[in-house]
Amino acid sequence: MSQTYNHLMSPGHIGPMELRNRIVLAAMGSNFADENGHCTERLIAYYEARARGGAGLLVLETSAACYPSGATMPNMIGFSKEEFLPGLTELADRVHQHGAKIVAQLCHGGKMAQEDTAAGREIPMPSLMKPGFSDMFNVLTQEEIGHFIKAAGPDGKGPQYYEMTQQHIDETVAGFASAAALAEKAGFDGVELHAGHGYLIAAFLSPYTNNRTDGYGGSRENRARFLLEIIAAVREATSEDFTIMIRLDAKEYRVENGIELEDCLVTVKLAEKAGVHAIDVSAYGNTAHAIAFTEAPLVHEPGGFIDFARAVKKAVSVPVIGVGRVEPEVGEQCIANGDFDFLAMGRKLLADPDLPNKLEAGTPEAIRPCIYCYICVSKIFINQPMCCAVNHSMGREYEGDIIARSSDSKKVLVVGGGPGGMEAARMLAEKGHQVSLWEKDRDLGGTARIAGLAYEPNERLVNYLSTAVRDLPIDLHTGRAATRESILAEQADHVVLATGALRIAPEIPGKEQKHVFDGEELRGVLFGTNPQAAAKLNPLYRLMLTAARLTQMLRSIKLLRFMSKIWMPIADEVVVIGGGLVGLELSEYLVERGRKVTILEPGPSLGPELAIVRRARVLHMLREHGVNIQRGTRIDRIEADRVVYTQDQEEKSLPCKQVIIAIGAEADDSLEQQLADGGSQVHRIGDCRDKSFIDGAILDARKLVQQIG
Ligand SMILES: Cc1cc2nc3c(=O)[nH]c(=O)nc-3n(C[C@H](O)[C@H](O)[C@H](O)COP(=O)(O)O)c2cc1C
Ligand code: SF4
Repeated sequence: MSQTYNHLMSPGHIGPMELRNRIVLAAMGSNFADENGHCTERLIAYYEARARGGAGLLVLETSAACYPSGATMPNMIGFSKEEFLPGLTELADRVHQHGAKIVAQLCHGGKMAQEDTAAGREIPMPSLMKPGFSDMFNVLTQEEIGHFIKAAGPDGKGPQYYEMTQQHIDETVAGFASAAALAEKAGFDGVELHAGHGYLIAAFLSPYTNNRTDGYGGSRENRARFLLEIIAAVREATSEDFTIMIRLDAKEYRVENGIELEDCLVTVKLAEKAGVHAIDVSAYGNTAHAIAFTEAPLVHEPGGFIDFARAVKKAVSVPVIGVGRVEPEVGEQCIANGDFDFLAMGRKLLADPDLPNKLEAGTPEAIRPCIYCYICVSKIFINQPMCCAVNHSMGREYEGDIIARSSDSKKVLVVGGGPGGMEAARMLAEKGHQVSLWEKDRDLGGTARIAGLAYEPNERLVNYLSTAVRDLPIDLHTGRAATRESILAEQADHVVLATGALRIAPEIPGKEQKHVFDGEELRGVLFGTNPQAAAKLNPLYRLMLTAARLTQMLRSIKLLRFMSKIWMPIADEVVVIGGGLVGLELSEYLVERGRKVTILEPGPSLGPELAIVRRARVLHMLREHGVNIQRGTRIDRIEADRVVYTQDQEEKSLPCKQVIIAIGAEADDSLEQQLADGGSQVHRIGDCRDKSFIDGAILDARKLVQQIG
């Protein structure tokens, strides 16, 4: 029994279900089913890994109770026909083999049922919808917009709604009941009825979408009637041993006249009376507003829904499940305080399915952290299978354990200690290869160190990987730059180049001035690793940096992030050239430190490398802070106090005291060419192969390990 997490790791009950601990895998749509609603081996192996990892309960991703009607993803699990039974049965069996329980999240997508629109089917709603405005398209790239075309339907008119009659309501209620019966037949322990996130049941609960004047509209009790009828029908169709939970919204963000906590509290009391065994408290953000998705359900603010769970807990006596970026230590405290009874985690269990086992073993530092980059869910937005930037084995569990020990131990030299290099070194060492890792800087992390300065979750990944690398039998050398000769002298079987991109600022007249930094110089100045860049600073700043470097202060990303809120050698009026991932995250960092920032982006898109949902959030935040963002600009020259550029064939200029050039990174094959015919097999991964950031570097590392074997 873990000392620190004894509440989280203690057994618990939800209705008839006995659970080995209080950790719940939150439902997450994966797009891993086949295109006809059947479970695939990929999907089953993904859930099996989470069961093996120690979670007490798995909530299956949102699944279509009335499939194909109400499906929100192209590869969504169906529960409407006997033909789904074999796959569902195997899924439940494989999860049970590892001691976890599993409930099916049953849903009808309602207004979000894009597969109905794609197939030309009309969408049932409590009331006819008013046409809405969406600002989502402002943040999408042209390529991403292409993925949404299908959502306009075969006639291009977009979703067509109809108001449900009593007969439609009865049929849908019956659909949920027979789906629950199928789940029980397949061996599931229960269901979670999805009454949140803007889906059909939530549309009845929400005063915004429900304008009915019959017994299903008006008062809170009437709006809850559809849900209560479903609960009653599910109860009727299943045995006493079958658990019924609901997930609902405590609030609808950015929805005028939407659900508020008071509505939720009435609904949960009615649901408890109707016999549900647990309440899972989430929230919804109007997806017509790009920013809303990071308010709910994928709340960005740590523990953003805890107050909601606490309020629900006071209103009911059945167990309450809290969710929403809750760290295990916070969840532990919440359970101890009686704020909620079970902790559901989504993203953290994508990043590391073994999180529960690691808590149990008392090794929380070994948990691979989620970096809240939103790549997983952004894939679902564009109808792709879910993936995880820090764990590319997620969704590939069916390929088997790639770090199973190799019988053929090789000598491998990894050059470059950024995320790709560290991840490759870690996996190769775990496989039993003899690994050396060389990093030219004093500290591991590469460009992820500056990414960690700008966005704290990235720092956690750097810390996790460097701890893993230090704990393994890896011959680690920091402060060691590689040359052709030193590499060849190692006589390694494999040389893995993870040296990062070649950063050459474009030829902009005036870029050599002292107030202009490129990305490399900025990193060097902030971390005290580049004397030439530091020479550009005035004597006072140089002195302060030298003092900071001598006290080792510049080595800690955390300390530097904190100190830079008080002081850093960057003027108060900055032009950032480049609105890609680096330029946007850097601008976010600068405005948070009181700098007035303008971004000049040469191309038409902003942050195409950022996942849609994170991009939407960063752009929203920058605009809220008054950052001036200009696209389609050609930078003509940098002067002492301004940047001159051309936009729409007109010459313009912006006053500034500092310029940061955040463009000009390219793949780098120079070292690979020097090593040709050197006797080792040479591999390039990460940004030196192709500019692909943390996500691409971690994926490359995985592919490399599969290749080396
Ligand atoms: C990729 C992804 C897919 C999701 N799909 C669902 C879903 O199918 N049903 C649901 O109720 N919530 C869904 N969610 C929300 C999660 O269940 C969870 O409430 C949310 O991620 C907040 O928890 P976390 O901070 O622990 O990730 C999804 C989240 C992610 C990241
Ligand atoms: S893709 Fe990013 S946000 Fe999603 S689970 Fe992985 S690290 Fe977390």
